[in-house]
Amino acid sequence: MNKILLIGCGHMGSALLQSWYKNSKNIFSIIDPIQHKKIKKIYSKRVKTFKNINEIKNTKTFDIIILAVKPQVIEGVLKDFKFLHFKKNILFMSIIAGKKISFFKKFLPTAIQFVRAMPNMPASINRGMTCLVSHRSLSKKNKIRATDLFEMVGKIVWLKNENDIDKITAVSGSGPAYYFLFIDLFQKAAFEIGLSKDVSKKLVEQTALGSIELLFKNKKNAEQLTNMIAIKGGTTEAAIRSFKKNNLLKKTIKNAVNSAFRRSKELGK
Ligand SMILES: NC(=O)c1ccc[n+]([C@@H]2O[C@H](COP(=O)([O-])OP(=O)(O)OC[C@H]3O[C@@H](n4cnc5c(N)ncnc54)[C@H](OP(=O)(O)O)[C@@H]3O)[C@@H](O)[C@H]2O)c1
Repeated sequence: MNKILLIGCGHMGSALLQSWYKNSKNIFSIIDPIQHKKIKKIYSKRVKTFKNINEIKNTKTFDIIILAVKPQVIEGVLKDFKFLHFKKNILFMSIIAGKKISFFKKFLPTAIQFVRAMPNMPASINRGMTCLVSHRSLSKKNKIRATDLFEMVGKIVWLKNENDIDKITAVSGSGPAYYFLFIDLFQKAAFEIGLSKDVSKKLVEQTALGSIELLFKNKKNAEQLTNMIAIKGGTTEAAIRSFKKNNLLKKTIKNAVNSAFRRSKELGK
């Protein structure tokens, strides 16, 4: 059981909290200027809520501190940290896109152990994908703590190179939104050819779920499965030919991933 301080409890912070609360006996303190009221109503036991760090009497009680605010506000959050006292073996974690470990170290006591993590939204239902990276100085105990925490909410990968976090952000960090966008547009196209909204939703969502499960259980990869369904002269082939026309979809996906990658690097500057 760890005492965890979560700073920032918006979309991602609350997704993680939801899963961690359900799957562990950890004790949580949450800092969020507005969301603290909502959080207080949802969680009665094991979660204390605060508006800001100055309301916390003793920061020495925490085993793990997780930073989950937007990159644009993190500097303001950290400016008081140099004057706070922490446990000797405390683990600091950040899920903030772009910001490097060296950035955080400027605001924190020198010997602090730090892990960067890039989770994604399905963590709220234990289907997350999180990539983690640390400096070599990370203790075995803190590596286990970080591993346990994020394995609780899905799959994890430890990275060797911190620069890869920007790439991961553009793939699994932002990725759920890419799938949601495709599903949304697919549902709208189904509606436009004359199906009801409800039927379009059911058809598209169940088809997405079934296709992903089939991909997981099958030895064939996504390209092979596409070709298996797109029989020459058939309906699927007609649609796939349209998707592949002038490589438009391929270029769009490539551009979108590159835009997220570039933005992640920009946020770190
Ligand atoms: N969303 C994702 O899918 C995702 C995935 C991976 C990583 N991340 C990373 O997670 C971080 C949070 O993203 P998000 O989507 O959860 O953003 P968000 O919904 O805006 O959550 C951030 C929360 O932090 C609060 N906050 C602002 N200033 C604060 C302060 N001084 N102390 C404590 N809390 C403060 C915000 O309150 P106000 O709204 O009142 O300002 C908000 O509730 C980002 O750095 C992002 O890069 C997000």
